[in-house]
Amino acid sequence: MPVILCQPEDMNGDEFTEIVIRQASAADAGAIASIYAEHVRSGTASFDTVPRSAAETEQKIAEITAKGWPFLVAARGADVVGYAYVTLFRDRTAYGFTCEDSIYVRSDQAGKGIGSLLMGALIDASTQCGFRQMMAVIGGAEPASVALHTKMGFEHAGRMRSVGRKFGRWLDTMYMQLELGEGDRTPPDKEPS
Ligand SMILES: CC(C)(COP(=O)(O)OP(=O)(O)OC[C@H]1O[C@@H](n2cnc3c(N)ncnc32)[C@H](O)[C@@H]1OP(=O)(O)O)[C@@H](O)C(=O)NCCC(=O)NCCS
Repeated sequence: MPVILCQPEDMNGDEFTEIVIRQASAADAGAIASIYAEHVRSGTASFDTVPRSAAETEQKIAEITAKGWPFLVAARGADVVGYAYVTLFRDRTAYGFTCEDSIYVRSDQAGKGIGSLLMGALIDASTQCGFRQMMAVIGGAEPASVALHTKMGFEHAGRMRSVGRKFGRWLDTMYMQLELGEGDRTPPDKEPS
């Protein structure tokens, strides 16, 4: 897994000089759970209404990394400021080459390029895993998420109207899609079974 250093000029004059993107470990579970909790409580990107505990987060990190899939964190020193991972888009066998991304940046660090760095690394790592398509399932069609995915080359792939209810509002879910690697131009090395 390559370590990616963020250039200082990307950080809008912030005091820090580098962001490292690395694989998550169990030791990151508390910080990751805390970032997710703030977005569950205040945003619509996740349709969860109850945050995941640190123990549940540690288990999720273990399950995803055991499959050889990326679960990445963006860190400034010991400080985890964002994370991203992939899961299968659907668990039926034929979906085996399609992953779904999840990406969250700590609110006080948003808009500084960290999401773009994480997503770039996630796309590279997921392609190396053999995935051919990446789906974004964007709760509430959150503008920041749509902007990030559009910037990274995702295309609009559909919208489900009013499928969610949170904060007293009906919420749409937007699908966006990115082809990875050779996409559907070649068959995979091994057919799903
Ligand atoms: C979506 C999210 C991960 C983006 O992370 P980030 O570090 O703020 O992203 P970046 O700073 O790299 O910005 C990426 C692009 O999105 C744009 N953008 C960021 N926030 C935006 C906002 N609120 N509205 C519109 N555009 C926005 C940026 O301008 C940038 O485009 P540019 O480089 O062409 O200017 C972050 O806002 C977040 O955690 N949101 C809540 C959770 C979420 O929606 N996750 C996605 C679940 S599918």
